[in-house]
Amino acid sequence: VSQMLVDSFGRLHTYLRISLTDRCNLRCQYCMPAEGVDLTPKPQLLNQDEILRVANLFTSSGVNKIRLTGGEPTIRKDIEDICLGLSNLKGLKTLAMTTNGLTLAMKLPRLKECGLTSLNISLDTLVPAKFEFLTRRRGHHKVLESINAAVELGYNPVKVNCVVMRGFNEDEISDFVELTREKPINIRFIEFMPFDGNVWNVKKLVSYSEMFDRVVREYPSIKRLQDHPTDTAKNFKIEGHQGAVSFITSMTEHFCAGCNRLRLLADGNFKVCLFGPSEVSLRDPLRRGADDHELREIIEAAVKRKKASHAGMFDIAKTANRPMIHIGG
Ligand code: GTP
Ligand code: 5AD
Ligand code: SF4
Repeated sequence: VSQMLVDSFGRLHTYLRISLTDRCNLRCQYCMPAEGVDLTPKPQLLNQDEILRVANLFTSSGVNKIRLTGGEPTIRKDIEDICLGLSNLKGLKTLAMTTNGLTLAMKLPRLKECGLTSLNISLDTLVPAKFEFLTRRRGHHKVLESINAAVELGYNPVKVNCVVMRGFNEDEISDFVELTREKPINIRFIEFMPFDGNVWNVKKLVSYSEMFDRVVREYPSIKRLQDHPTDTAKNFKIEGHQGAVSFITSMTEHFCAGCNRLRLLADGNFKVCLFGPSEVSLRDPLRRGADDHELREIIEAAVKRKKASHAGMFDIAKTANRPMIHIGG
């Protein structure tokens, strides 16, 4: 193992999120503007060999968990080979994916064979018409099918990511909690975060404390679980429920002190913080023929520039970042 990726606050980075594409088969309002975003021309996206080359640098520096994101990672044609290649990297313990689940059900058995160990599926409403409004596309039933397929295939837990937005879905919180009663589903209620082009405003934010109040009113037996210090989620268990309920409180109670995450974007830019605007290209030196040593130095220098925490929701909302679809969460 080479030098571990420790930042200037002593945080060890063992979790790499790789965005495989900035394309998506949905058009979620919280992720991109109505007019869409500029797509990175295909030749500028990292290819499979480049992804594996860079990922190997990270796993040999202590990264043991990789999450594939997008855009929508499953629309990448070489997704199976990428999974296979990554899952064979020495030191990797977890190969995860965050997906919208639209075309997942049919691909999942094969992805599991290729080494995909963990699955997070995004679903923000249980009402098909509201799904069409939010995502500007159809396919609600396909996402439900994918969640069920994941449960059947033995993914445990199947995490379901639900971004809660006032006036849209805060009235569905209990319905989502019901998903956890009979199945090993972990529903995760996420505070709405500002990204370029998603018309965030604080009135649409439903805070952790408000979400929790809604849950505890109907489920008084809810109990906090011990979280891992690097967890994005605060986790809870309800008596008699197979699954679990969590809250991702990025805005009102950030969890930056325990952050272990780094990001490789589809265009080969390396981003050390979800909300830090600074990025550095790994693709360009790679294509110029840089050796591992040179790439490692670029990565380590960027990690050392990582800030202690994000700047707070009001400053984030004012600072240029990128649309979520380019970052992958
Ligand atoms: P697990 O590895 O299963 O815990 O998932 P995760 O929370 O790391 O990843 P996922 O893609 O499921 O993201 C869930 C939510 O957490 C999304 O809204 C992400 O944008 C948000 N999130 C993930 N990583 C970070 C982070 O480093 N900082 C902040 N503020 N939010 C994050
Ligand atoms: N705020 C919070 N979460 C978001 N996600 C996408 N956009 C936002 C936002 N503005 C979630 C997606 C997905 C994960 C990667 O990030 O629903 O589950
Ligand atoms: Fe880490 Fe930045 Fe997310 Fe905070 S906002 S948890 S520092 S990636």
